[in-house]
Amino acid sequence: MTIAAVDVIRAKRDGRALTDEQIDWVLAGYTRGEVAEEQMAALAMAILLNGMTPDEISRWTAAMIASGERLDLSTVPRPTVDKHSTGGVGDKITLPLTPLVAACGAAVPQLSGRGLGHTGGTLDKLESIPGWRATLTTDEFLAQLAAVGAVICAAGEGLAPADRKLYALRDVTGTVESIPLIASSIMSKKIAEGTGALVLDVKVGSGAFMRSRSDARALAETMVALGRAHGVTTFALLTGMDTPLGRAVGNAVEVAESVEVLAGGGPPDVVELTLTLAREMLDAAGLTGVDPADALRDGRAMDTWRAMVRAQGGDPSAPLPTARETEVVRADRDGYVTAIDAYRIGVAAWRLGAGRARKEDPVSAAAGVVLHRNPGDPVRAGDPLYELRADDVDRLPAGTAAAGGAVTIGAEPPSVPPLVLDRIA
Ligand code: URA
Repeated sequence: MTIAAVDVIRAKRDGRALTDEQIDWVLAGYTRGEVAEEQMAALAMAILLNGMTPDEISRWTAAMIASGERLDLSTVPRPTVDKHSTGGVGDKITLPLTPLVAACGAAVPQLSGRGLGHTGGTLDKLESIPGWRATLTTDEFLAQLAAVGAVICAAGEGLAPADRKLYALRDVTGTVESIPLIASSIMSKKIAEGTGALVLDVKVGSGAFMRSRSDARALAETMVALGRAHGVTTFALLTGMDTPLGRAVGNAVEVAESVEVLAGGGPPDVVELTLTLAREMLDAAGLTGVDPADALRDGRAMDTWRAMVRAQGGDPSAPLPTARETEVVRADRDGYVTAIDAYRIGVAAWRLGAGRARKEDPVSAAAGVVLHRNPGDPVRAGDPLYELRADDVDRLPAGTAAAGGAVTIGAEPPSVPPLVLDRIA
């Protein structure tokens, strides 16, 4: 049977389910450049508007995986487990979590991306460490995974190339916010990476993709089902993202905060989420009876961090870049910090230079926002609330404007919601 792209688009436009053959054909053709960008844009919009059945999502994901290579981690002499976060402001958890879980006996193959928009990218953060390189060959990746147990690096070009093209197209056609497209995009890359187990941290709130708990739950359930259908033990947590995680938002500042956690300190919410996700990952990997809190306390996680950074050319003892320009924003009254809007702080860090507007833009290692108060803290008029950091003084006004109104001060202490909102097993 001959398939035409326009018939696939019409079927989805009219609300019909696509056949397996149509899905395989359209994604293979798009990867080879035979289905035009405008046709895929129309199809993505039809999917965004009309959705997909669970069977369609599963086939779409399988076709995205089949568009490239699937890594074979069977030579790694430890159980493999990875984590994916849907992205949030100040979300540096991958940095302390990866060496921590490796120090407890698992191998963590963390293939990460760069930031676009108001949420930062893990690779951008690590690149603030002098000498550290994000790109490894498959052989280097496998050797480091076997020797150190922890790798954070860029995903190779050969992994789910259909997603690479489609994600760039969705970004410019208003079609990112579709649960079937987000779930298949994330899971095709994670499944192709070859991990045996996966824990998903699905963020909910002002600083996240998913603003509502019901959408976040639907996304989490869709991804858990996709993981299981492809033989990957998958769990998900829904965690709050109305407030930035920790105190640091940016690149070098988030590395510094992660190192504090590995040294046994750090902000309580970052420590809590790191340990909660570590326990989930160890459970998913079948490593029971291991307490990650011990590996933080006795320095094993820090040793693994240092080995991981060194293996990729970085100097874990080198000073991190610092910003030339800083501006402190102070409280205008006495009271309690009742809220800090994650989205506004994320946009401020981005405008200060920590993030990029287009994927080819450079990022500043030193730019960002450092919070001096968290929700629930008492403040007096004149106390510092947060600090804006930039390399270039001209960037400060845009950062100040974006962060304006992010911190709310009230007369009574707020009730701070729990960080972990739900678990999908
Ligand atoms: N992250 C991804 O990798 N894909 C999406 O579609 C959204 C977030």
